Amino acid sequence: MSDASQGEAASPTASRPPIDERIQKTLDRALYASGSPRAQNVRNFLNGVWLGEPLHAVLTDIPTGAWSLTALCDLLELAAGDERFGFAADLCLTVGLAGAAAAAASGLADWSDVDPPARRTGLYHGLLNLSAMGLYTTSLVLRRRKLRGKGRLCAAAGFCAMTVASRLGGDMVYKHRIGVDRTSGEEFPEKFTAVLAASRLPEDTLVRADYKGAAIVLVRRGERILAISGTCSHAGAPLIEGKLKDNSVVCPWHSSRFCLETGKVLDGPAVHPQPCLEAREHYGQIEVRRAQTHS
Ligand code: FES
Repeated sequence: MSDASQGEAASPTASRPPIDERIQKTLDRALYASGSPRAQNVRNFLNGVWLGEPLHAVLTDIPTGAWSLTALCDLLELAAGDERFGFAADLCLTVGLAGAAAAAASGLADWSDVDPPARRTGLYHGLLNLSAMGLYTTSLVLRRRKLRGKGRLCAAAGFCAMTVASRLGGDMVYKHRIGVDRTSGEEFPEKFTAVLAASRLPEDTLVRADYKGAAIVLVRRGERILAISGTCSHAGAPLIEGKLKDNSVVCPWHSSRFCLETGKVLDGPAVHPQPCLEAREHYGQIEVRRAQTHS
């Protein structure tokens, strides 16, 4: 019996997971519960596996740029009284809304695999951006109804929400390192270097070796020995604790899948490939060197 149950009755909410975790799980169930290849493909697309960079980071430039232009054109329309600035403001606002919708979809896909403490920051970031979208949508409706003054006010409020959201987005990247390649800075030898006794590498088993503090995962496949960095590029999980699946390894934390022959990302949320190594058995030792054709 726990201490809590021995003493006063536990609060019904005491064991409830935090709100950000509950939202994340609900989102995960709604979007990806099927686990079908199609759902995985959509997820891979939204994460940016095809791009080799987080797609969200690219898409957020659209509303940020377009809505900044909206603010500028609104000011010019006010100052000059020229309707052409009003037309440009409305156009930029609409482009920003389209970009924000796409950025929201990719952001949700990324956020579904973000762990604490960044998860809470990500929730606030997303809610503020949704608020900005709501304010800009309202602004567009008001402008269409010839209530341009109120429309401009709504847009100004949306701009403030977007600015604070962008600040939190910066925290996600620069403070929590979301979307940053966690293998960057790892050094591997340019020449074949012994990292493990060959007798310690059985067939079809993930085995860890180290080179200057950087983890390596090795697999013996008959005559071949496959090797990639052992630190997941997504959030730094130890791939040695992952699962071997054909010639790929599945990350234990968020199930990214990497090709052991090339380091390529086969399934996200990771988008950066794993550093790939050439490996050989030489005089009873497993030797590795950085692959010449893959980074
Ligand atoms: S740490 Fe997230 S997929 Fe590996």
